[in-house]
Amino acid sequence: MMGSTGSKLRAFTAAIAATLVAANAAWAASPAQGGSAVFDNLIFVVIGGVLMALLASVAGGVVIAVLANSVSRFFRRNLPTDEEMAELRAELREVDQRRPRQIRIEITPSAEPFVFSAIGFVACFIIFSLALSAVPQPVRGEAMPHGEEAKPAESAALPKEGDFGKITDGLPKGDPENGAKLFNTAGCVGCHSQKKGERLVGPSFYNLWNIAETRVPGMSAREYLYQSIVDPNAYIVEGYQAGLMQQNYAAILSPQQMADILAWIEARHKDEP
Ligand code: HEC
Repeated sequence: MMGSTGSKLRAFTAAIAATLVAANAAWAASPAQGGSAVFDNLIFVVIGGVLMALLASVAGGVVIAVLANSVSRFFRRNLPTDEEMAELRAELREVDQRRPRQIRIEITPSAEPFVFSAIGFVACFIIFSLALSAVPQPVRGEAMPHGEEAKPAESAALPKEGDFGKITDGLPKGDPENGAKLFNTAGCVGCHSQKKGERLVGPSFYNLWNIAETRVPGMSAREYLYQSIVDPNAYIVEGYQAGLMQQNYAAILSPQQMADILAWIEARHKDEP
């Protein structure tokens, strides 16, 4: 057992705190967050976290505290008595004197709350992750149609000629900050410079939004950029070869990520002098 009411209270508080952190972490890492735009929905993280923590700490916290007590009692049964411990300590002290550099770690009753909260954290994290992944997640700002899942079918659509307007209009609201991250993580940075006139494997993104507007008559900047990413060979920039740009972005980028990249290009590379 935990010895005193004080340490019981500590263990319980630690369990609640761990539950709160676990709920938040699980929520933040859930598919709804795409694993990346964690802080985009800070309000949701806070409100959701607090609500979940309230619910979970009442239910989960009590369960965990009770379980932890039983576990503790079980292991305590097999622990040495106080006298045996005193002997062991004396022996250890002797060993320590002979080997002064050796580091000894003891798990004392006061460490229990931390052990329990670690167990609680892992348990809650798993439970919340499972619960969250079972629920169809709404994408920011718009509800996901019932039954539709975030599978390859959800990756950026590869449209037929003329469909781009419909597709780009249907994209979710883009987040330029995440777009900036994707520029690095999706590999664009390896082939595209952002400096004026700097040619890497592909053309520079300098003033790209304005350039995109003029590339293909009848295509808006959004439409052209979307096409250039999901179907690079549809239009080859003069002076470059077909087939050089990575060809599988339609399969690996989600509509949200496409929207983020487009939003970033518009925010960062429009009307550059
Ligand atoms: C392996 C190199 C490579 C990678 C990686 C790459 N590109 Fe490209 N990209 C090219 C080349 C080469 C061209 C020019 C030929 C063409 O038009 O397909 C190009 C053209 C483009 C264009 C048209 C530019 C213009 O001036 O009209 C856009 C937009 C573009 N890429 C966006 C991206 C984005 C966004 C990413 C990352 C998600 C990316 N590219 C990743 C090589 C690459």
